[in-house]
Amino acid sequence: KTKARDVNVLIVGLDNSGKTSIIEKMKLQTGGSRRRAQGANEVTPTVGFNVDTFSKGGVAFTVFDMSGAGRYRNLWEQHYREAKAVMFVVDSADKLRLCVAKDELDAMLSSRDLRGKPFLFFANKARPPSHWSPYDRMDVPAALSPVDIAQGLSLDEIDQHPWQIVPSNALTGTGLQEGADWLTNFLA
Ligand code: GTP
Ligand code: MG
Repeated sequence: KTKARDVNVLIVGLDNSGKTSIIEKMKLQTGGSRRRAQGANEVTPTVGFNVDTFSKGGVAFTVFDMSGAGRYRNLWEQHYREAKAVMFVVDSADKLRLCVAKDELDAMLSSRDLRGKPFLFFANKARPPSHWSPYDRMDVPAALSPVDIAQGLSLDEIDQHPWQIVPSNALTGTGLQEGADWLTNFLA
């Protein structure tokens, strides 16, 4: 067996977007976590940041799971230099704060320490399948589609970084493999 390549990946996005849930689910999918993974629906808001390790697709990931809370967002940039790639998580149901996510993203995209590095966007809490009746989920505001999110974040204007957007659901695991596969292409 060849030695897995060690890479540092940063996972960022606003608070409550689902970063920790995504990482916990990815760890469950690989079964390779060093400590027992919790269920994705048992997560609590991250304080500061957590470091997690797991192997996937021949890559040994060290993930810096940052808190998205406003008072901790200044910690993100401390990990830019060592990060090989960024996972940026957006809550598809949080229309009101998409512009806040865009401000944070724009600051990252202009950072020298992230120059040229790949960005994987998870459009998380993705809209339920279209065969569901819209009346099934009256309590949840209509989720944005990945296209809406790509437009809201002006992703098509990104020309200095490889990027991709993948709809995801951290509770079911939908999309996480696809996203990780895209990312490992740049890391393996
Ligand atoms: P901070 O650590 O505060 O920055 O938040 P976070 O981005 O790590 O979010 P976290 O993983 O703690 O998830 C926030 C809430 O969203 C939790 O109640 C999760 O169960 C829920 N959640 C995460 N992903 C999904 C998803 O895909 N769908 C749904 N419906 N809920 C989700
Ligand atoms: Mg978290």
